[in-house]
Amino acid sequence: MSTAIIYASTYGSTRKIAQILNQKISDSTLVDIKKEKIDPNVFDTIILGSSIYIGQVDKHLKNFISMNMDVLKSKRVGIYLCCGFEENVQTYLDTNFDKELVNRAVIMTMGGEMDVSKMSFAHKMITRMVQKSEQGRNREVVLHPEKADEFLKQMFSQTE
Ligand SMILES: Cc1cc2nc3c(=O)[nH]c(=O)nc-3n(C[C@H](O)[C@H](O)[C@H](O)COP(=O)(O)O)c2cc1C
Repeated sequence: MSTAIIYASTYGSTRKIAQILNQKISDSTLVDIKKEKIDPNVFDTIILGSSIYIGQVDKHLKNFISMNMDVLKSKRVGIYLCCGFEENVQTYLDTNFDKELVNRAVIMTMGGEMDVSKMSFAHKMITRMVQKSEQGRNREVVLHPEKADEFLKQMFSQTE
């Protein structure tokens, strides 16, 4: 039983979760979809991980999903998202993913990280604006690697 963990990360939090999942799964392959190509046909299970920027999943991951939609729908699939506004997850799923894929996938948010010192100028500006907004004020954005166990439990206890 082999698993591909296919992720897209900008500042590393989605990568951290991918690495944790990779350590916990015995026969898994880690794929940075921004840099690598992968044939999903050869895996039994596919985990897709992305961060959210301005409501959007990374475009490389989106492209991968749309190019391989039929294959993905024939596999065991998990989707995890790293984001600051976890309460918006349903909107992120509705706007970024195929409905059928979402319905058959295990879905989990893993929190996020907002390290302004790592960010590009444009991302710093957006972050400052969001931190002043009603939704962003006093918000602590924390990564939740401990949710990896629950995610994997749900994924691998699913009946085929
Ligand atoms: C410019 C910018 C825009 C963001 N937009 C959103 C957003 O629309 N919704 C959300 O929930 N989180 C948003 N976030 C939070 C990121 O998803 C979060 O920081 C995540 O951990 C980044 O993951 P990465 O390091 O793997 O790229 C944004 C962060 C930045 C810097």
